[in-house]
Amino acid sequence: MTNDNPPSDVTPPAAGTGRERVRIFDTSLRDGEQAPGFSMGRAAKLRLAHALEELGVDVLEAGFPSASDGDFEAVQAIAREVRRPIVCGLARCVPGDIDACARALAPAAKARIHLFLATSPLHREFKLGMSREQVIENAVAAVRNACRHFDDVEFSAEDAIRTEPDYLVEVFSAVIAAGARTVNVPDTVGYTTPAEMYERVRYLREHVHGIDQAVLSTHCHDDLGLAVANSLAAVAAGARQVECTIGGIGERAGNASLEEIVMALATRAELFGVDTGIDTRKLYPTARLLGQLTGQPIARNKAVVGENAFAHESGIHQHGMLKHRGTYEIMKPEDVGFSRSQLVLGKHSGRHALRERLAALGYAPDEAQLDAIFTRFKTLADRKREVFDSDLEALAVGRDPEA
Ligand code: KIV
Ligand code: ZN
Repeated sequence: MTNDNPPSDVTPPAAGTGRERVRIFDTSLRDGEQAPGFSMGRAAKLRLAHALEELGVDVLEAGFPSASDGDFEAVQAIAREVRRPIVCGLARCVPGDIDACARALAPAAKARIHLFLATSPLHREFKLGMSREQVIENAVAAVRNACRHFDDVEFSAEDAIRTEPDYLVEVFSAVIAAGARTVNVPDTVGYTTPAEMYERVRYLREHVHGIDQAVLSTHCHDDLGLAVANSLAAVAAGARQVECTIGGIGERAGNASLEEIVMALATRAELFGVDTGIDTRKLYPTARLLGQLTGQPIARNKAVVGENAFAHESGIHQHGMLKHRGTYEIMKPEDVGFSRSQLVLGKHSGRHALRERLAALGYAPDEAQLDAIFTRFKTLADRKREVFDSDLEALAVGRDPEA
């Protein structure tokens, strides 16, 4: 999975590593917020936008200004306050949306408009009622119009994955000629597979005219649980922007999860050979903040940022962890913002972990005492889901933890 021909003029090396940079485009505040249960008001959006700035995202999609007055105002407030990342607004290929975006983003230090138009046969026929030619005409006219207000124009071919590959080449070639500087390949309905995505991106890089003047981007949905794998395949094939959300929130089953992509690229840097500008230690705090703002807590078993991501309960795993943490951990918890790994004591835990925990609590039972404590610990653990330090202290001094 190597990248053999990167568009070098638009993808500078990441500072200090000599590796190419993949831009992280966060759409938690747009595609993420569109999902039932994740809607946020202006104040919440602003708070998350500041956290995303701290996290180091390159592009922050703040909303869809023509969707509602509230969204317009939220985008405008973010454009005023958030200065480091590019602040982006979504727009259909219609003049009203482009004007609304230009007004909402006027205060931004760095602004981008994100235009989208569906290109697949199904959408052309049933949603748009447009021919292939009409779709290209509309897209080109919108990009030209947007270029009057913005230096930075992104074009998304909605449902790109179900679009005829040669037609997608025509669309992207035309919008790049009209001034688009990022062309995005959304898997709008989460239909593709990693091998197919790899092939699609490779094909586009080979055939789109002017692709060296644009950044090729990907935007994957998770209907088949493949959004992250598909995004990584796109990067392996040369995509240099990934659109994603904190916790993978987004329409239906969600979007590709930012923290999973970033940590996969970092943990397997030898495979991908790219860097992101993300401060990974802020991943967990940012995911927690999202949970607080939306009232939707992170699932315990969520990769990278779930409470169980660095928790070990089984005796065999705990034993391994006590000898060398690399046995059962491929990332350091501190690197994603957790304070430490957790050896959770429960019914699967073994004597080694129990002895370690008791030692940490100041108890040093001899072998016979440990045997007795261990037997009572197992009985207790069968009744309770987790055994806490207070329970262990009671066991260590011979008290009944449940009395
Ligand atoms: O999923 C999608 O196609 C989108 C576009 C607006 C980029 O969210
Ligand atoms: Zn989407």
